[in-house]
Amino acid sequence: MISSSLKKLLIEQGFRAPSVHNVQPWVLDVRDENILVYDDLTRTLSIGDASLHDHEVSLGALIEGLHLLLSTENLGVTEIAPLTESSVNFQERKLRPRYRLNIANGFKADPLAAMISKRKSYRGNFLANTAEDRKHLTDAVTTDSSAVISNPLELRQWAKDYDRCSIESNGHRPLQAELYQWMRFEKSEANYQRDGLNAESLGISAIEAWAAKFLLRPDVYAFLNKFGMAGSLISEASQIASATGLLVIFKVPGLTPLENGRNFYRLWLQLTEAGFNACPLSALVDHPEGRKKIESYFGDKPVLNVLRVGKAPQEGVYESPRLPVQETLMGVQS
Ligand SMILES: Cc1cc2nc3c(=O)[nH]c(=O)nc-3n(C[C@H](O)[C@H](O)[C@H](O)COP(=O)(O)O)c2cc1C
Repeated sequence: MISSSLKKLLIEQGFRAPSVHNVQPWVLDVRDENILVYDDLTRTLSIGDASLHDHEVSLGALIEGLHLLLSTENLGVTEIAPLTESSVNFQERKLRPRYRLNIANGFKADPLAAMISKRKSYRGNFLANTAEDRKHLTDAVTTDSSAVISNPLELRQWAKDYDRCSIESNGHRPLQAELYQWMRFEKSEANYQRDGLNAESLGISAIEAWAAKFLLRPDVYAFLNKFGMAGSLISEASQIASATGLLVIFKVPGLTPLENGRNFYRLWLQLTEAGFNACPLSALVDHPEGRKKIESYFGDKPVLNVLRVGKAPQEGVYESPRLPVQETLMGVQS
């Protein structure tokens, strides 16, 4: 059912799905009739994402990407069945079997599939925007499960709120140390082109990366934080204030984090289709006060995540690395 050319596309582009901190906690087995999804619990944020909520959102994004790519040959995922076997060994890694994606035909080609290779996180300042841009953004991604905040004055306030939440969370040393572990500052580092956030995907120069490697080191960061000097190191206020808007994605009542992850990816691809770049602001929704504030803004609707959105300078957008496919693909069986 899955042709060899479609398998190639699934393998080349399926793994472009976003994952929290680019941990890529997944392994696929792409078969002729179905796709098996495994996860690797050694590739999770055990402090920052202890509940594995964002892990599931990331798996949901992976599955939605596969579904969209399957649609290019009028196929689609009809069922996400649990995989009940116990853990399997793959390249000396203990993987947890999670889902079997049952596939059938009868689906219409979805134009969002073409956005998968174009979508990239962008973490720099956005280009100046106009009232027309703000309207275009609002029209493109306002749905039953999403809303846009685009008032520039409000954005400036959210930028401050975000920084307050982020600085407070990073004051928890184990959490800051975990995030640091997934940052790659120098090209010579073994994982620079494999996973995590490297200097290019963070949008910083080699010199800034060299300084950040030292200043963000957990012991140094904790010292600076004690004297109130760490905030400027991790501030994202100027990027947020420069955005055309914030895309607020709600949790759809009754949907699992996996299903909400599918919606999250679709909305991000819709942003790409509308010509925008984006970056999630998880620190806002992971912080109890940030979450309370954004949810009460929308009448206490539960929020999944918030993305800052805008137009990026062409040369500023970088394609983040992925693990070699041999490490994320179990083998193509016939
Ligand atoms: C659930 C989830 C939460 C994320 N939260 C953040 C975040 O708070 N800050 C950030 O810079 N990127 C965040 N990201 C984006 C990932 O870091 C990004 O998708 C990953 O590095 C891969 O890069 P790409 O989006 O350019 O393909 C998040 C992604 C997911 C799936």
